[in-house]
Amino acid sequence: SMPSELLIQRITAVREEMGDSLLILGHHYQQDEVVEHTDLRGDSYQLSQMAAESDSCRSIVFCGVHFMAETADILANRPEKLQQRGERVRVVLPDMAAGCSMADMAAINQVEAAWQDMSEIIDTDRVIPVTYINSAASLKAFCGRNGGIVCTSSNAQAVLDWAFERGDRVFFFPDQHLGRNTSLKMGITEEQMPVWDPYELDLGGNDEAAIENSKVILWKGHCSVHQMFRPEHVDLFRKQHPGIKILVHPECPRDVNDIADLSGSTGFIIKAVREAEPGTKWAIGTELHLVNRLKAEHPEQEIHFLSPVVCMCATMYRIDLPHLCWSLENLRDGTPVNTISVDEEVSKWSLVALERMLAVK
Ligand code: 13P
Ligand code: SF4
Repeated sequence: SMPSELLIQRITAVREEMGDSLLILGHHYQQDEVVEHTDLRGDSYQLSQMAAESDSCRSIVFCGVHFMAETADILANRPEKLQQRGERVRVVLPDMAAGCSMADMAAINQVEAAWQDMSEIIDTDRVIPVTYINSAASLKAFCGRNGGIVCTSSNAQAVLDWAFERGDRVFFFPDQHLGRNTSLKMGITEEQMPVWDPYELDLGGNDEAAIENSKVILWKGHCSVHQMFRPEHVDLFRKQHPGIKILVHPECPRDVNDIADLSGSTGFIIKAVREAEPGTKWAIGTELHLVNRLKAEHPEQEIHFLSPVVCMCATMYRIDLPHLCWSLENLRDGTPVNTISVDEEVSKWSLVALERMLAVK
């Protein structure tokens, strides 16, 4: 393989040549060597804002996962922006295999089938569909068409408030944990949150009485990275390090989230550490690369990874220097690869749901 010094030189050369016409966005879970080459970094909400507000660039190279690049394409190419610019922004995902296993747990045909089955039990006109941004654009479009909205881990509660101003119930997909943890904070009980299992072929499995009594219907999806954090890890850290603060992402299961000191998006986690006093002790439950970066950036604090086993996002990790270099050079040379271009009709309706989210304060 190519020595990384050479890759770094080649990536730097493309960035210099392309100047402001190129915007490289990166999620906080990206590995350090990729983060080095990003213009802007953020959590999912911030990254969607950055794409929505991008003005001078003609291309966005997205160091993150597929649903993030789709969202960037939808927002950067919305009608008002297209009119201003006169041409589309090209969005590139350096490795097409950088998906999200949670997003893959809800397919549009399954969501539509669930909605149909649900309509035989409850009045779906009074149900607001809410999709976590970690989902395919087709699910965002479903929400746009059906009076629903998108949320991220940083605005989930405000989005659910928005939804309950407009309906009696929420259908929340694909992450049951974010849906449950957020609803619990709002005083909704576990009994009012049945889990909809898309693989339950017999409707009897999705208990009709539970659906009738529901406030929030959760989709049976989860993040394979965050489900690895366990309450016994929290107990052990508290025993071994008195005074330690447990800081987790709301994609962690309820049993961890309930006993943590703080829970929030990656942006929230970074801010909490930045604002803490020197000497603060943390055990952090989120993706490994972010926790390791925080450790390196904050030697004045004591930062631990909450799990004894490695929890890293294998798809985020697919974005590496060789893929970044390859996609950048092809972009510069007029032979772009891995362009993410969402279908027009899907874009239109996804945008409805995304704009509702961006308008929620
Ligand atoms: P946030 O950066 O919005 O907290 O999302 C975390 C995540 O799992 C992204 O896939
Ligand atoms: Fe998806 Fe989890 Fe990876 Fe985020 S960390 S991209 S939710 S699998």
